[in-house]
Amino acid sequence: MSETQVVSNHELEKHVDEKVAIQGWVHGIRGSNARQFLSLRNSGKIIQVLAEKEILGEELFQTVKHLRQETSVSVTGKLVRNEKSPIGFELILESIEVVGESENYPITPKEHGIDFLISQRHLWLRSSKQLAILRVRDNLSFAIRKYFHERNFLLIDTPILTGSVGESAGTLFSTEYFDLGNAYLAQTGQLYLETAIFAHNKVFCFGPTFRAEKSKTRRHLTEFWMVEAEVAFTGHKENLKLQEDFVKTIIKETVQNSLEDLKVLDRDPTPLLAYLEREFPVIDYTKALEILQSKGEDIVWGDDINSEREQMLTTEYGGPVFIQKYPREAKAFYMKVNPEDPKTVLNADLIAPDGVGEIIGGSEREENYENIVHRLKEENLPVESYDWYLDLRKYGSVPHSGFGLGSERMIAWICGLQHVRECIPFPRMMERLYP
Ligand code: 4AD
Repeated sequence: MSETQVVSNHELEKHVDEKVAIQGWVHGIRGSNARQFLSLRNSGKIIQVLAEKEILGEELFQTVKHLRQETSVSVTGKLVRNEKSPIGFELILESIEVVGESENYPITPKEHGIDFLISQRHLWLRSSKQLAILRVRDNLSFAIRKYFHERNFLLIDTPILTGSVGESAGTLFSTEYFDLGNAYLAQTGQLYLETAIFAHNKVFCFGPTFRAEKSKTRRHLTEFWMVEAEVAFTGHKENLKLQEDFVKTIIKETVQNSLEDLKVLDRDPTPLLAYLEREFPVIDYTKALEILQSKGEDIVWGDDINSEREQMLTTEYGGPVFIQKYPREAKAFYMKVNPEDPKTVLNADLIAPDGVGEIIGGSEREENYENIVHRLKEENLPVESYDWYLDLRKYGSVPHSGFGLGSERMIAWICGLQHVRECIPFPRMMERLYP
């Protein structure tokens, strides 16, 4: 007799009306003295398993009835279609083997506070909404990589340990590095991406970045995943076009591949998709300030635009909006000074509505050697540690531009979540390093 084939919840379609085995975890259980419905989780999907006393006999039926949440089991039975089961199939149970017991699983179907759930993150990953969010994350990552590969961008894996400040000296994690002094955890892959455009023209990186920001907000993590792109022979305006196309394409693709998951999250994607039907407006920082002042905001030229004010601007424009040409002093040393107004730089932030805020920061880069040395000195950065970066301005310098998008903020937007902490498997925040 041949062994029963072990199948995953991804491949049920091929095995309808066959006897199969499924290995998984008890997600939930309910029923009566005659029949029990077991929700069995395998590969992040839940299949309904029907256990009938008449088929199983008293002993096996009692085993099923007393199964506890998150016990791991191996079940065999006939696979049939059933529209009432969450994934459209049901297994009519014939036998069951307990693989690992689970006693007093801490996350029960009742409501738990967020602090408790975050501290149980290693277990919380198994819950339905969390299964859905991390699948959306996977779909987004895939859409991002696909976007760039289809357009001949080359993936460059930039280092995480670096010797120079990438964004701002104020938010660095540093560590001792043998006899060489301090190393920093990368705040951005950008400076290294810039080196690679001279070899490959269009490049991207996608990896973890670190900010020792003392911000306990809904949208700040100390470790987050940023996707960054950099393109040679490209100016500020083209850079904005690329960002707009990128954002629209990856959102559509991710939504398309996540419809079931968005349902689990009670997220109707219609309003999100509607934002993508129009061109994203581009307004100058100065104009943004005028709008805010006209609404009674006490804000002066040079001030940062905080998240409440970003929200006022996306409300004003009814959707995502680029804010460009910020004051030079407020921005990183590598941004190209605006030749028409040297108080400002050729940068833009893309602000998302629905309370999400800034999702992209990008700019044209300063390509002139003297200008960038001047900017490094203005920012009190040690020019010597940028020798390699300055070489790019000596050997065949070209106009170039790029941007970075924070993937957790994007996931929060797509999923309709108010906080980025659920958008990454293990969130790192000021007050959290566990688990
Ligand atoms: O605006 P930022 O700091 O830009 C850069 O790092 C540039 N080097 C990118 C580039 O031009 N290649 O960050 C880019 C994006 C932000 O718009 C935001 O979405 C996300 O990264 N981000 C964060 N996400 C979560 N937690 C934080 N602490 C974040 N800081 C930035």
